Amino acid sequence: MSKQENLILPKDFPQLKNDTFLRAARGEEIEHVPVWCMRQAGRYLPEFRESRAGKDFFETCQSPEACCELTLQPLRRFPFDAAIIFSDILVVPQAMGMDVQMVAGKGPTFPEPLKEPEDLQRLQVKVDTAKELGYVFRAITLTRHKIEGKVPLIGFSGAPWTLMSYMIEGGGSNTHSKAKRWLYQHPEASHMLLKMLTDVIVEYLLGQVAAGAQALQVFESHAGILGPAEFKEFSLPYLRDIARRVKDKLKEAGQDVPMIVFAKDAHYALEELSQSNYEVVGLDWTIDPLSARERIGGKVSLQGNMDPCALYAPKERISDIVKKMLEGFGTRGYIANLGHGVYPDMEPENIGAFVEAVHQHSKQMIKQI
Ligand code: CP3
Repeated sequence: MSKQENLILPKDFPQLKNDTFLRAARGEEIEHVPVWCMRQAGRYLPEFRESRAGKDFFETCQSPEACCELTLQPLRRFPFDAAIIFSDILVVPQAMGMDVQMVAGKGPTFPEPLKEPEDLQRLQVKVDTAKELGYVFRAITLTRHKIEGKVPLIGFSGAPWTLMSYMIEGGGSNTHSKAKRWLYQHPEASHMLLKMLTDVIVEYLLGQVAAGAQALQVFESHAGILGPAEFKEFSLPYLRDIARRVKDKLKEAGQDVPMIVFAKDAHYALEELSQSNYEVVGLDWTIDPLSARERIGGKVSLQGNMDPCALYAPKERISDIVKKMLEGFGTRGYIANLGHGVYPDMEPENIGAFVEAVHQHSKQMIKQI
């Protein structure tokens, strides 16, 4: 181990000063509703664009120092209640042996996607996550030190179906028809691939906690392309398995880390998601806050779900939208967020207005209870 790596061992982390996010995840009492934003480290920040300029995306992901800096940037500007480690969900297919590039103007691209079930043989089944993804673990440990206990650090992974769809489509897609073809033509091979991914993801998430992650989010970003029956067969069992296996292992070690599941556009599965071993269910903006709360009651905490495009509105309007959202969800067992990530053309000032509105309105609401 190099001298530098010696300095970032996962031990003696600074004491956590603001645990509001962790308390809300567990449904405990809070003084204000915690808030963070998906893609809070992103191109909408000039300092992010400057740090990333001229550098390859995945090389940036492989540099613990760069990931740490990018994770901390939004915290210097806004009083977020949590940080999410800068990385990407596609580092997992890379660790399994697939080539993935980030192409400017096009997004993630796999030069050699999986085409037929025989292609599964190209994949690494037993992945040594410490070796292949150790750079993420080192980024987490370094960031956990440098964050100085200001707020908790969230680790994350893509969920099996979302990763499978990228590995087959080879990039973004409107229909995801290549990946869905597998579900209908090759259900057995699909389950085999989903199982392989699940095994790697479980190890990967456990490695992140060992490195210092204080919460975990699983992104099923492509849930909406599945219908309820397909979701039940090809997504939900794996989401459940991941949370159960991660939690069982953590329990053995006397650890307890809240887990969030964000299955975008899976409003049809809200009840099932609230019974899938996650403390928090993340929601996109197509679900009405009050009806979401009515459907799942107080069983789990909820996270979300302002339409990211509402950040284009004037600040006063953002404040009104936030107030309504808080009234719908209530202040207990709730983490404010957007319904998806911040877009590159958004005004940093308006993200600030969003964060401030959540804090201000929720403090007032809690006082009145
Ligand atoms: O601040 C954060 O949210 C943490 C970092 C983060 C990134 N990607 C950084 C990133 C997280 C949590 C992700 C997850 C991710 N990556 C998801 C799941 C969340 C979602 O959006 O549904 C998905 C589907 C990906 C795959 C991916 N990576 C896409 C579709 C893109 C956008 C490509 C483009 O050109 O817009 C990326 C690239 C990426 N990942 C960026 C960032 C900040 C932007 C590119 C850059 O920095 O150069």
